[in-house]
Amino acid sequence: MAKRTAYVRSVGRFLPEKKLTNSDLEKMVDTSDEWIVTRTGVRERRILEPGLGSSYMAVRAARECLERAGVGPEEVDLIIVGTVTPDMMFPATACLVQNEIGAKNAWGFDLSAGCSGFLFSLSTAAQLIEAGRVNRALVIGSDVITTLIDYTDRNTCVIFGDAAGAVLLEACPEPGFGILDFILHIDGSGGEYLCMKGGGSRRPATHQTVDNKEHFVFQDGRNVFKAAVNEMSNVAAEILEKNGLTGKDITFLIPHQANNRIVEATAKRMGIENGKVIANIGNYGNTVSASVPLGLYEAVVERDPGVKKGDYLVLAAFGAGFTWGSALLRWWEQ
Ligand code: UT7
Repeated sequence: MAKRTAYVRSVGRFLPEKKLTNSDLEKMVDTSDEWIVTRTGVRERRILEPGLGSSYMAVRAARECLERAGVGPEEVDLIIVGTVTPDMMFPATACLVQNEIGAKNAWGFDLSAGCSGFLFSLSTAAQLIEAGRVNRALVIGSDVITTLIDYTDRNTCVIFGDAAGAVLLEACPEPGFGILDFILHIDGSGGEYLCMKGGGSRRPATHQTVDNKEHFVFQDGRNVFKAAVNEMSNVAAEILEKNGLTGKDITFLIPHQANNRIVEATAKRMGIENGKVIANIGNYGNTVSASVPLGLYEAVVERDPGVKKGDYLVLAAFGAGFTWGSALLRWWEQ
């Protein structure tokens, strides 16, 4: 019997309306539009209104995803939310989303894997579908990362933005299509280079942790950059080789958007030309776990020509942890 696979039946996203442009940032810190564009590729990013949280965006992305598929919330079996900015330490954002959309038959959880959060969530849900334990899963990447950014720190404040993306996974009706493969890694020795030191059980909030700015993202950009270029391009090339494919076979590369230079290095290593790379960092910045589903949304909904049955897509990500990985999809549609 052919192996059961999961496929992406539908996509959804949420983008906050408020934009923060490079010229806005020029007035806040010692930076320039020229530096930000040439070193990162970001031109503007979105900022969620204060007080709303990741679940607000996740719910809206999930609703669009379900509406596009014509699937009711009560038909969803599983909700996984990839996030490093849950509404609260607990309960899980997945529980808040489940309640808000009315997915009364679903179980679920949050998954913390930095900017690889969506990819790790997608792979986890796909395996539960492959195993026959779950028939329909909502996989969401949602981060209000700007709530953790120090807007006096030019090393981090120019990069990040808020967004959410969602996909609906189901068992693929036809063998040989859907999520065919994934390769995932973690390496905790890189943890210190990209982290938020305060607010967890080791350093709970005190006046001192606030004064020390421990509740903001800390990033040693150069060390993260080196590891990201290396690992993301290697793991994206590896999944091609493992499956007997080359860059020429790929319709779209959908990489995490941390820095244009990392994306370009990955595409080059895979032998993929520019037009086949989804790059939305210019408009949205680094949206952490939302960047890959935003890219998928662009490929499926906004590109013309977009994705058609049989097209190969490669997803790739690298993030805090370190975490990284790639996934190979062969698109299925009716
Ligand atoms: O998403 C998860 C994983 N994250 C990543 O993959 C991010 C990886 N890292 C990066 O993308 C880059 O390292 C950054 C965009 C964060 C920084 O770019 P960089 O080219 O690595 O810059 P750098 O940290 O090596 O700094 C070069 C110079 C420094 O000045 P000096 O010491 O040479 O005088 C910085 O102070 O650029 C300076 N600088 C800036 N100048 C203007 C740093 N940030 C800014 C800024 N505007 N915003």
